Amino acid sequence: MEKPGNAPRVLVIHGPNLNMLGKREPEVYGTITLDDINKGLIRTAEKSGLSVESFQSNHEGVIVEKIQEAVDNYNGLIINPGALTHYSISIRDALLLLGDTPVIEIHLSNIYKREPFRHKSMVADVAVGQISGFGAFGYTLALEAMANIIT
Ligand code: DQA
Repeated sequence: MEKPGNAPRVLVIHGPNLNMLGKREPEVYGTITLDDINKGLIRTAEKSGLSVESFQSNHEGVIVEKIQEAVDNYNGLIINPGALTHYSISIRDALLLLGDTPVIEIHLSNIYKREPFRHKSMVADVAVGQISGFGAFGYTLALEAMANIIT
């Protein structure tokens, strides 16, 4: 495993309402909290030789600014844009700023089994791939996929 200082850096962005995981529609999203997910990401990163940082915001512009900061500062980006997935052209445009830096889109729920307005993703074709429907385990899958791409 690489020394932490040299490990490729991955940023994980959680969008609106994901801070409420555990309380939010548990029948859809499960009972795991965002803190549990972030701790799991750190464990997976250690096993995969990555360094990971997590960030959550309920505000579209704040997320756009965080993606802009990621340009040239991270080796990969994993994003669950929450509801912004379905309509945010500004998140999509910000992701395009990342150029060759790989982006993985993740959703806890299977967005294609839900309401028709969730079937459209503004970011799917900007991402290397999408993970949708595996609950919190999807974050482990996403980080392992990212490790496979960048290490
Ligand atoms: C979600 C799916 C979105 O449709 C929803 O608005 C969310 C969470 C998911 O992780 O399943 O906030 O991105």
